[in-house]
Amino acid sequence: SGTQSVDRESFPVLKNDLMLRAARGEAVERPPCWIMRQAGRYLPEYHEAKAGRDFFETCRDAEVAAEITIQPVRRYRGLLDAAIIFSDILVIPQAMGMKVELIEGKGPHFPEPLRTPEDVEKVLNYKVDVLKELDWAFKAITLTRMQLQGEVPLFGFCGGPWTLLVYMSEGGGSRLFRFAKQWINEYPELSHKLLQKITDVAIEFLAQQVVAGAQILQVFESWGGELSSADFDEFSLPYLKQIAEKVPKRLLELGITENVPMTVFAKGSWYALDKLCSSGYQTVSLDWSWDPEEAVKINNNRVTLQGNLDPGAIYGTNEIITKKTEKMIKGFGGGKKNYIVNFGHGTHPFMDTEKIRFFLEECHRIGSA
Ligand code: CP3
Repeated sequence: SGTQSVDRESFPVLKNDLMLRAARGEAVERPPCWIMRQAGRYLPEYHEAKAGRDFFETCRDAEVAAEITIQPVRRYRGLLDAAIIFSDILVIPQAMGMKVELIEGKGPHFPEPLRTPEDVEKVLNYKVDVLKELDWAFKAITLTRMQLQGEVPLFGFCGGPWTLLVYMSEGGGSRLFRFAKQWINEYPELSHKLLQKITDVAIEFLAQQVVAGAQILQVFESWGGELSSADFDEFSLPYLKQIAEKVPKRLLELGITENVPMTVFAKGSWYALDKLCSSGYQTVSLDWSWDPEEAVKINNNRVTLQGNLDPGAIYGTNEIITKKTEKMIKGFGGGKKNYIVNFGHGTHPFMDTEKIRFFLEECHRIGSA
C-alpha cells in the first residue's frame, strides 16, 4: 500500500531528550513531565483554535492539530518535556470503516455500533489501508514535529484493542459495558478475531506514526479495569504484548533503526501491574489508585513508571498540590531514574491553567532536589 514520503533527515535536532532517556531507563537530572490531555478544553487557546468546529475535523486539519498540540508546550514553556499529537483513539475504528462522531458535551457516538456477528464480520472483511485512511494523522505528525523545532519529543498514540472493542460495541461511553461483555462472553472466538484485527491496524498505525515523526509511543487501554484479572489476561494483555513486540519489528522493516520507547496505560488494571512490567513496554503508566511505593516494589526496576497524581488534586490549594506532588515523587524514588511525571488520567475541562503550572513547577523543584 505504498509508503509515506517523509524527509526524516530534515527533522529538527531534539534539544530536550529527558523524556526519551527516562523512558529508556537511563538516569536523568530530574523526572521529565507531561500530562495526559495536556492539549484540550481547559486551555482557552484550544477553544480559540478549534473555533466551534467539529472535533474530528479539527484533528484532520494538520495546521490546527499542530497548533493545538504545541499550545501547552508554548504556554508552559520549559515545564513540559513532551508533546502528544492532537488526535483520538477512535480514529482506528474510523479507519476500519466505522462512523464515529463526537457530540459536544456528550462524547463519542457510533451511529452503527457492532451488535450482531454480521456487524463484526463486516468489519473483519473490511480491507484497511492505514496509510490511506489515516494519511491526515501522519501529515499532522510530520508538521507538528517540524514546528516543535526540537524543543521536546512528540508522542504518537493509539487505543488498546480491548478499549476500542468497547467503544465499537457500546457505541460510546458506558457504565455497564453490557455489549462489550456480551461479546467476550457470548462470542469469545469472534471477539478474538476482532481484537486481532484491531491489533494489526494498531501496529501499522503506530509504526507509521514513527515514520511520520513520532519519537515515543503510548497505548491507552483506558477500559482495562472493566475486565476481571482472568479476562484481562485473555482479552487485553496478549494484544498489548503483540503491539510491543511487533511495532519495533515493523519499524525495522520500514528502515527505522531508532529505538522508540513505548508506554502502556491500562487504567484500573491494578491486578496486572506485575505482568505489564514484563510485557515488552519500556514504560508503564499508572492511574492514581496506586501507592507509588507499592508499584515501585512490584516493578523492581524492570521498567520506567509513569504517573500518577489524581487529577482531582488540581482542584486543591497550592499547599495540597505541593504535599501530594512531594509524596508522589518521593514515592517513585525521587525521580532520577525509572520515573516520568504525569497525572493518573487526563486533565478535566474545568481545570485552572495556573494550578497546572504550579504543579509542573513543583515537579521541577522537587524533582531537581
Ligand atoms: O492532549 C492530549 O492528550 C491529546 C489528544 C487526545 C485526545 N484524546 C483529545 C480529545 C488523546 C491522547 C485522547 C485519547 C483518548 N480518547 C482516550 C484515552 C485516554 C483516556 O482519556 O482514557 C479515550 C478513552 C478517548 C475517547 C474520547 N475522545 C472520549 C471519551 C472523548 C470525550 C471526552 C470528554 O472528556 O468529553 C473524546 C473527545 C476528545 N478527545 C476531546 C479531546 C481534546 C474533547 C473534544 C472536544 O469536545 O473539544
